[in-house]
Amino acid sequence: MEELGFGIIGCGVNAPWHVAGIKAARGARLAAVCDIIPEKAQEFAAKHGAPRWYVDYHEMLENPEIDVVCICTPSGLHGEPTIAAAKAGKHVLCEKPLEVTREKMDAMIAACRGAGVKLGGIFQRRTYPTIQAVRRMIQDGKFGKMVLGDAYLKYYRSPEYYKSAGWRGTWELDGGGALMNQGVHGIDEILWLMGPVKSVFARCDHLVRDIEVEDTAVILVEYESGAYGIIEGTTSVYPGMSTRVEVHGELGTAIIDEAKITTLKFLGEEVDAVASEADDTGVASDPRAIATHGHEVLVQDMVDAILEDREPMIPGEEHRKAVDLILAIYESARTRKEVYLS
Ligand SMILES: NC(=O)c1ccc[n+]([C@@H]2O[C@H](COP(=O)([O-])OP(=O)(O)OC[C@H]3O[C@@H](n4cnc5c(N)ncnc54)[C@H](O)[C@@H]3O)[C@@H](O)[C@H]2O)c1
Repeated sequence: MEELGFGIIGCGVNAPWHVAGIKAARGARLAAVCDIIPEKAQEFAAKHGAPRWYVDYHEMLENPEIDVVCICTPSGLHGEPTIAAAKAGKHVLCEKPLEVTREKMDAMIAACRGAGVKLGGIFQRRTYPTIQAVRRMIQDGKFGKMVLGDAYLKYYRSPEYYKSAGWRGTWELDGGGALMNQGVHGIDEILWLMGPVKSVFARCDHLVRDIEVEDTAVILVEYESGAYGIIEGTTSVYPGMSTRVEVHGELGTAIIDEAKITTLKFLGEEVDAVASEADDTGVASDPRAIATHGHEVLVQDMVDAILEDREPMIPGEEHRKAVDLILAIYESARTRKEVYLS
C-alpha cells in the first residue's frame, strides 16, 4: 500500500492525538513536525520518531516527503498554514474549530478546492458509533417529528488553564471561549443530529474568569425543521460535567452522555442503550483527557479519501458549520437580538 507522509504544524497539547492517529493508520507515516519554538519541535520529533523537524512551516511544505499536514496551531492560526499547504499541493487535516472568522474559512476552503487538495476537519464525536446510530434513527424518521434538540456543554477550566498559553481566552486567536474552544464539539454534534439552525437568541459573558471571551453562554435555538432547543455552555463550573445532548421527537427520546447513549426510548417499545468504546468523559475537567479513537478514525479517513480520491468524512464546508453558528450566537449576544442564519 502506498504510504502518505504526514507533517504536523504545532507541537502543543493536541498534537500527540494526531501522532496516535498517524501511527494507527494504514498507509500513513509521520514525516516531519513543525513548531515556531525550536525546542518544542525538536523534543516532539525525538519523542514521537519524526525524521525531520522545522520551525518554519513554509520550509516544511517544500519537503516532497510530506503529502498531508495536520494543523494543530492555535485556532485563529489555522487559516494561514492551511492556505500555504494548499498552494504547496499538500492535503490538510485541520483541528477544530476550522478558523475563527468567516473570511478565513472562506479563504481556506477556496484555496483547497482551487488547488484540488483535500480539506478535512476534526470533530471526533462524529466518529462515535452511538452518535452515528442516533443520527441514522433521526434521519429514518424513528423519532417522528423532531421537537427539541438540547446541548449541555459544562466544562471546568481553571485560571491556570487560561494562562497556560497566551492565545487562550482571546478573541483574536481563540476566537471565543466556552463555545468556540470547548463547546464547539457539542455544537457540531447537536447540529449534525438536528440539522441546520434557523435562528438563535443568546446571552454570553465572562462571569468568572478574567478573559476577553465568554466563559458562560445560554442560547435559545430554532431549527429549520421547526424544532426548538437550548444550548448551555460554560468553562466556569466546578467540577465540569460530561457533555450531554438530548434529542426528542414526538415518538422518541435519545440522551447521549459523551459517547454513551443513556436513554433511548420509543413510543411502544424500549431499546437498550448502545455501548461504545470511545469515552472522553474526563475531558470535562482536563483538556488532556481525550481518547485517541476519534483522531485515529479521522486520520485513516483522510488517507483513504486521498487514495480513493473522495471527500473526507468532514469536509471544510461541513467543518465550518459549527463556527458559523457560534459566530451568529456571538452576534446575538452582542446585539441582544435574535439572529437569523442565512
Ligand atoms: N480535537 C480536540 O479535542 C482538541 C483538543 C485540544 C485542542 N484542539 C485544537 O488544537 C489546536 C491547538 O490547541 P493546543 O491546546 O494544542 O494549543 P497549544 O498552545 O498547546 O499548542 C499550539 C502550538 O502551536 C505552536 N505554533 C503557534 N504558531 C505556530 C506557527 N505559525 N507554526 C508552527 N507552530 C506554531 C505553538 O508554539 C504551540 O506549541 C486548537 O485549535 C484547539 O482548538 C483540539
